Formats: sequence, C-alpha cells, structure tokens
Amino acid sequence: MAQLLRKLRRAVLNTDPSFCDMHEDARASRAAEEYLALIRPQLQQAFGGRTLAILDAGCQAGRLLIPLAQDGHRLMGIDASIFALRRARQHARERGLRVRLQRGNLTDLRRWVAPNSFDVVICAEVLYLCRNYRDILKRLVESLKPGGLLVASHRPPLHYIGYGLHHGDPAGAAGVLGRSEGNSPEGGYHNWQTEAELRALYHELGLRVLDCRAIDHVERRIPSARLVEFPSLQQTLAGGPRTDDGWIIPSYLLMIAQTAPAAHA
Ligand SMILES: C[S@@+](CC[C@H](N)C(=O)[O-])C[C@H]1O[C@@H](n2cnc3c(N)ncnc32)[C@H](O)[C@@H]1O
Repeated sequence: MAQLLRKLRRAVLNTDPSFCDMHEDARASRAAEEYLALIRPQLQQAFGGRTLAILDAGCQAGRLLIPLAQDGHRLMGIDASIFALRRARQHARERGLRVRLQRGNLTDLRRWVAPNSFDVVICAEVLYLCRNYRDILKRLVESLKPGGLLVASHRPPLHYIGYGLHHGDPAGAAGVLGRSEGNSPEGGYHNWQTEAELRALYHELGLRVLDCRAIDHVERRIPSARLVEFPSLQQTLAGGPRTDDGWIIPSYLLMIAQTAPAAHA
C-alpha cells in the first residue's frame, strides 16, 4: 500500500519525500563541487576547451550532468530510476539546457551506447552498489574513444570501517578487511576497494590512471575503547587524519583515467 501511494505521489505530484534529489541536497551539492573541481581541470588538460560528448552513467537527478551541460558539453545521462530522470529533466528544463536522458540498467549499456562514442564517461557513486561492477566498468571503458577519460568513484574500505566503528559495530568493521564485497556494516550488498586494488583493476582494463583522490570526507567519532580488541582496525586507521575523538574518513576514492590514444598509421 505504502509503495502504491509512493508511486501515485511520484506520478501525480512529481514529489517523493523519501527521495534524495542529489542536485538539490546541500551535502550532495558540496560533494559535487569537490568532484567538479577535480574533473574540470582534467578535461581542460586532456581536451583543451573543446565541446565534449560526455556520458553520465547513473546520473540520478543530474548533480554532475547539469553543471557540465552548463559548461557547454553534450551530455547523455542514463539511470535505472525513472523518477530520478524526471528530476534531472526538470533541472535541465529550468536552466534551458538540452540533455539526452535514458532510463536503463548500465548492464545493458550497449542498447543505447555504441563503442568508442564518448570523450568522457562519468560514473560517480554507482559502482559500489552493483554486483557486476567489473562488467559495467568494462562496458564504460569500451564506450570511450581512444584517449577518452573515465571518471569513476568507488568506496574505500575505510568508509565502511569508519561507519561500523562509529555505529558501535567493531566486529562488522573488522569484517570488511580481507574481502572486497558482500554485506557491509551499512546493511545490504556493497563493494569496496583500496587505492592499490583500483589501480590494478584499471591497469587490467588498459587504462592509465591520471589521478586518484580520497574525497567527500566525513568526521567519525570513534571511542578508543571500541578499537581495543581489534588491532587490525587500529593498524588500518593509524596515520590517517584525526580529530580529538575520532578520524576523518573519505566516503569515496575518485579515479580519473585515460584510454590509450589512437595508434597513428
Ligand atoms: C548515489 S546515486 C549517484 C548519482 C550521481 N552519479 C551523482 O553522483 O550525483 C546512484 C544512482 O545510480 C543509479 N544506479 C545504480 N545502479 C544502476 C544500474 N545498474 N544501472 C543504472 N543506474 C543505476 C541509481 O538509480 C541512482 O540514481
């Protein structure tokens, strides 16, 4: 019943209090600024000032798609959520922007996106939710032209360790170590990778990593007593930025990587 009401509300009123429109949400918008501050200089450096064909894979309400379209680029957004796309369309319309929006699962990317068709592919805060993230990554890379840029964010293990410790679940936090996917302390399926694991994965995909940054930091209060029985966690956190009673923990690792340039005959 609740689900039916939610659907009706979305369809008739175009609202849903349980939906976080990341383009409007203050915290998500601050993180978007952080993403854009790292992405824009890389676009400038790789392509000069030219207009680019950019795919935003899992674009939600368009918090990255809209500003990049405002920069003058040609944007296509794909997302599994029709409501998220409706919000993205509304934000674009309000700003007089033309963007192409497609509902679909990234697993079926080939239905809408031909290989070698984009200068840039962005996939922010999506892959950590997908069990087939390696396959999706491969398809995203295939969508890039030679010399194109992949911009993708991934969860670092520290995120879930910080979350588990902060919420009084040190055993759950310790359970993140030594594996890179499964049920996380946040509940439900997630995957997570260290910088070294991501570099190895990107290398396997034939990409050259241009930048890897920890972003969207969150302060986690973690009483020292919670760490006493978990030396492996103490070791993982050691050396990281601290507050008086906790740690400053990144929510994502942002990878910016490039496909090989076209071979000249
Ligand atoms: C946390 S939001 C990130 C949104 C956006 N990339 C941003 O940074 O603002 C994740 C989005 O990915 C979409 N998503 C997750 N898995 C997907 C999949 N397999 N195919 C298409 N969209 C997916 C969800 O519908 C959701 O809108």
